[in-house]
Formats: sequence, C-alpha cells, structure tokens
Amino acid sequence: MAPASIESCAPGKVILFGEHAVVYGQPAIAVPVTEVQASATVEPAPPGSGLTLVAPDLGTGFPLATAPQGEPLAAAARLTLTHLSAPEPDATLTVRSTIPIASGLGSGTAVSTALIRALAGFLGHPVETAGCLSSADVSALVFEVEKIHHGTPSGIDNTVVVYEQPVYFVRGRPVERLTVGAPFTLVIGDTGVRSSTRRVVEQVRRAWQRSPAHYDALFDQIGDTANQARRAIEAGRIDLLGRLMDDNHEFLIELGVSSPELDELVEAARLCGAMGAKLSGAGQGGNMIALVEDDCVEEVTEEMREAGAGRVICTKVAATLQRIEKTTD
Ligand code: PMV
Repeated sequence: MAPASIESCAPGKVILFGEHAVVYGQPAIAVPVTEVQASATVEPAPPGSGLTLVAPDLGTGFPLATAPQGEPLAAAARLTLTHLSAPEPDATLTVRSTIPIASGLGSGTAVSTALIRALAGFLGHPVETAGCLSSADVSALVFEVEKIHHGTPSGIDNTVVVYEQPVYFVRGRPVERLTVGAPFTLVIGDTGVRSSTRRVVEQVRRAWQRSPAHYDALFDQIGDTANQARRAIEAGRIDLLGRLMDDNHEFLIELGVSSPELDELVEAARLCGAMGAKLSGAGQGGNMIALVEDDCVEEVTEEMREAGAGRVICTKVAATLQRIEKTTD
C-alpha cells in the first residue's frame, strides 16, 4: 500500500528577552506565535521518482538528488533520512509559510521543523510515538539546519518552535518550559526591513572581541533582566514585564542592534499605552513587540501602522498550546 500523504505544521516565534546575550550563555525567553505557521506536505510520487522538494512561495522546486549541500530544505531532508537510516522515498514534499522571512519570527526554523516532522511521518516515524522521533530529536535536527542559516545559533529558535511552548533557554542546558502565571497579549510590528541574523550576530561578536569587558557587562545586564522577567511571568506579575522590556530594548540599543525603524515603532507603541516594548530577534530590521492591555490592542495596532509597521500581529501568551499534526489518506 502506498504511504498516506501527511501534513505537519510549526508556528513562528518571538524572543521576549535575552536575544544576542543568549549566544554568550545568558538566559533568554521566547514564545511561539501560532498566528503564523509553516506547513509541509508529503505526497507519494511514482516509483523511481525520488524526493522532490517544492516551495511555491519562493517559486522553487528541485529534486533532492540535485540540490547543493548547503540548501536548507535539502539539508533538513537529508539530515532526517540519515537520522532515520531511511532510503530516499518517492514523494513530493511541499513547504508553505505565512511567516515573514528574515524578520525574527522564526520562518526558516518553522519550515525546517514542519519539513522534518512531515517527512518522518511519511516514512512511518511519527513524532512522539513510542520508539520514534522525539521532539528532542527534531530540535537537534533543526539546530543542524540553523547552523547553515546562522553560523553560530544559540539554539533558542529551534527549541521554542519545536516544543511550541514558552521557554526559558540557556545554551547547553536542558529545555525549561516556562509556566505562565497569567496570560498576556503582545502586539508584534514588522518594520518591513529584512535583516540577516548571521550578519548582526557577527557584528556583535566583532564588537565584543574589541571590548570584551564592556560587552560582557551588557550581556550580564540582559541576562539579569531575563531572569527578572522569568520570575514576573511565572508569578503572573504582568505589571512588571513592561519596564523589563523597555530596559532590554535600551541594552539592545547599546549593543548596536536596533535601528531607526525599530525605535520608531517601539516609541509609537509606548506613546499610545503599551506597557513596554522592544525589538525582538537579531534586530537592525525585522520585528518589535509591545506588551499591551487587551483594551488597548486596537489603538496600539493603529498607531504602529501609522508609524510605518507593515504587518501587525496580535498574539496571546498562555501556558499550553496545541501542536497541529494531521494526516490524509
Ligand atoms: O533569528 P532571529 O532573528 O530570531 O535571532 C535569533 C536570536 C539571536 O540571539 C540574535 C541569535 C541566536 O542564535 O540566539
């Protein structure tokens, strides 16, 4: 019997606290953003056709066999086949995503995650069933792909996207899922400026190499802010979070990773009632986040649009979210 088609999804993410410092061993906090998703579908293809990878949003499609080594979709597929000791299947694997690319929302990470899960499922290794691929396995595979995109990733992106839970993350330590004492709302604003995580991370590294003591002190302050934020989130003290986001944004400005567009959106959100706001992710473009009381969401969204935000997404952070996995015959 031909294997059934299978589809998997993975969410976007935002980093709430600790970006950049997390690369240097400090803690960071990230949450999934389920309003945007990547999906991967694997469908059987005629015998002998091998695996074809298709990304309609990017207008590309190619056989795995001819893809260059560093191509991220091919890398994710190859790593999965090697991990499962499985031969290349005769199938078409199609990836789609509503997550804006190069903007700190985890687009590449989510695509890799959905692809690995769907391919594993198609090969008879559904994730999190007895003896099959665990979330830790998927996260480790996605991390390998991240290295192609980013060079020296901390591992926070693959962790939050694969586990689809708010996480407190310290490089090299076991994943800690974060308890959310009281739900809270974030408004996410896109500057529309694309940013290369690899380039910004390298820029910070060069600055750190020139003045290690200065940058280590900044990283410590960012780590301390993330720890205070963790306690506030767990205790449901959302009233304390806004100031911590503002502090974190100032540290990121000092790191040199903000931009006029990000600062403008952050300022606009604060001026019309956000409790706090900061850039999120690598910076120098991409997205910012604002912590907003539910009755202010519309006003903050409007103000951020007027200040130049392209896409604005509103998301609620709560304790547990469902991962979506569905099969069709
Ligand atoms: O990929 P982005 O833009 O969400 O940034 C990742 C966060 C960094 O701390 C800047 C890098 C990393 O690997 O943690």
